[in-house]
Amino acid sequence: MELQDRIRELCRAREAVILAHTYQPPEIQDIADYVGDSYGLSRRAADLKAPVIVFCGVHFMAETAAILNPGRTVLLPAADAGCPMADMITGEQLRRMKAEHPGAPVVCYVNTTAEVKAESTICCTSSNAVKVVQSLGPVPEVLFVPDRYLGRFVEIQLGRPLICWDGFCPTHAMLTKETIQRVRSEHPDAELMVHPECRPEVQDLADHVLSTGQMCDLVKASSCRKYLVGTEVGILHTLKKLAPDREFIHVTPFLRCPNMKKITLEKIVRSLETLEPRVTVEESVAAGARRAIEGMLAVTARGA
Ligand code: 13P
Ligand code: SF4
Repeated sequence: MELQDRIRELCRAREAVILAHTYQPPEIQDIADYVGDSYGLSRRAADLKAPVIVFCGVHFMAETAAILNPGRTVLLPAADAGCPMADMITGEQLRRMKAEHPGAPVVCYVNTTAEVKAESTICCTSSNAVKVVQSLGPVPEVLFVPDRYLGRFVEIQLGRPLICWDGFCPTHAMLTKETIQRVRSEHPDAELMVHPECRPEVQDLADHVLSTGQMCDLVKASSCRKYLVGTEVGILHTLKKLAPDREFIHVTPFLRCPNMKKITLEKIVRSLETLEPRVTVEESVAAGARRAIEGMLAVTARGA
């Protein structure tokens, strides 16, 4: 039996739903019930009634699903699929940062551990970071963790400084200004979209700085025929399916997140057979993390 057929059969037997991030390999996206960005996946995970969620992404994403939907079994088919950026700040480091800025609200990127979320005022994703910071009002200081490049993007959008942690995504940091200049000169007729996890000098050269979900929205809404894509390679498959009549050029083969590629069809089969590896979050930590994530969902829902 084909692996895809076996997965469908197991999903029916387990009443399982497969969620996949747009950075997942094509064959994983194609088997998923829902493919989306971090924000879309959080929303979907919060609403799911299925008893089993197979999360095809990295650990913090599966953890977010487990926090939002504590009654469900959340499976991450590759237990070692982590996010190096999420590991760049610990709960203890954030507690020390907070002690240096008493009373300042903390905005944590969703790419963080549950412990860091529990220490934060509110969570954000790359699609709503600007709205989330804005929702705090004119407070004198805002702490933003861990992505300094997303933080800098928000600073520019809002014209206000943030106190940023020194974290970054090692995959997106591979994209340099020199690469962008070369690719742009090779394709002067294309529009360039990059993710806000890219370096500032790369963002400054782009036509659009967008989350992965926003990239899909832009392609749907715009009539541009050709795009240069400055984010993880997995999204090329999502975009080509969405708009087969357009041309998408990946700016560099280095934009490939090794952790996002740890999930395979074989591992999904094993995971559905054994209901392992499971991602769980202790309720004492989950309660605080849930408050921060639900705060973000509320701000985004009311269009603050
Ligand atoms: P999105 O918020 O665009 O889904 O990005 C998540 C991520 O991990 C980017 O590296
Ligand atoms: Fe983490 Fe970067 Fe991979 Fe996203 S692309 S999961 S931020 S390492």
